[in-house]
Amino acid sequence: MKFAILAPGKIAHMMAKTVTQLEEVECYAVASRSYDRAEVFAKQWNFEKAYGSYEELAEDPEVELVYIASPHSHHYEHAKLCLEHGKHVLLEKAFTVNAAQAEELIALAKEKKLLLAEAIWTRYMPGRKLLDDLLADGVIGNVTSLTANLGYVLTNVERMIKPELAGGALLDVGVYPINFALMTFHSEVAEIDTTAVMSDKGVDLMNSVTLTFADGKMAVLHSSMQSLTDREGVIFGDQGYIEVQNINNCEEIRIYDLDRNLVRRVNVPEQITGYEYEVLSCIKAIREGKSECPEMPHEETLRVMRLLDEIRSKWA
Ligand SMILES: NC(=O)c1ccc[n+]([C@@H]2O[C@H](COP(=O)([O-])OP(=O)(O)OC[C@H]3O[C@@H](n4cnc5c(N)ncnc54)[C@H](OP(=O)(O)O)[C@@H]3O)[C@@H](O)[C@H]2O)c1
Repeated sequence: MKFAILAPGKIAHMMAKTVTQLEEVECYAVASRSYDRAEVFAKQWNFEKAYGSYEELAEDPEVELVYIASPHSHHYEHAKLCLEHGKHVLLEKAFTVNAAQAEELIALAKEKKLLLAEAIWTRYMPGRKLLDDLLADGVIGNVTSLTANLGYVLTNVERMIKPELAGGALLDVGVYPINFALMTFHSEVAEIDTTAVMSDKGVDLMNSVTLTFADGKMAVLHSSMQSLTDREGVIFGDQGYIEVQNINNCEEIRIYDLDRNLVRRVNVPEQITGYEYEVLSCIKAIREGKSECPEMPHEETLRVMRLLDEIRSKWA
């Protein structure tokens, strides 16, 4: 499949490193706002074409699937451009700035019969399936609650600190604890308790979010762009608990019994970078004529986006 990258920043390099190792992918084109940046990237990763504008990429009839890795503020505009030109789209997280934009893009993809998928890699990784299977097998009994956190020191990263680039901890790193919770608990969110520490520019530096679900379960979440956190997710049940080491790229799952003894360690399979799973899922969905990936259906993207809107409305 002819694969293209729009916005060759930091994460786009990781994606290029990944897709160059996938035989299903033909590394075809890259577009930057600067031709020179696109050309350097294309040479480095052996992409056939380099474009100095996103429009030129969208207008290339050969391009099939576009991976969009621009700042959150521009996801809507760039995804719309690609969809309007008949391209399938894999769009980085946070999907859009708000749920209304997400709804519009999803409707457009459906109307054009194109794939539109959110690049939230933790949804597609095999570690998640392993975890879901353990929970379904009842290894920690009846699950009641969980905690999850993610934090990095990102206060010098432009797209994180600028409100005009839709910066802030929640939209960037906070989506991982939220997705971790929503992948584990499927009933409706009945109540949200949240607080944030805001920067002088008006983006959240860190936040806490407690979600109470309609079936009585609870998720206690934290994300930060000010400090490094242990990235742990812990799921609690009435027969023990499960630790997930690194909710942003699962390295190990540890199961504890009611005496707090570690009874089992589960490792995840070897991976290229971890980004291959979302790409392979997109290719499969496109070949099957689907407009969404089963690992992250549109309804789940919207569930996340509506939650992000509601959380931020509570900080206002
Ligand atoms: N899935 C993951 O694990 C993961 C990890 C990190 C980031 N991400 C996501 O990937 C996206 C990009 O993150 P990143 O860390 O790669 O960012 P980055 O290094 O800042 O790259 C973003 C790129 O977007 C382009 N761009 C277009 N309009 C822009 C504007 N107005 N201001 C600044 N840049 C603009 C720039 O490329 P040109 O000017 O060359 O076109 C820039 O290089 C975000 O949505 C982020 O949440 C995902």
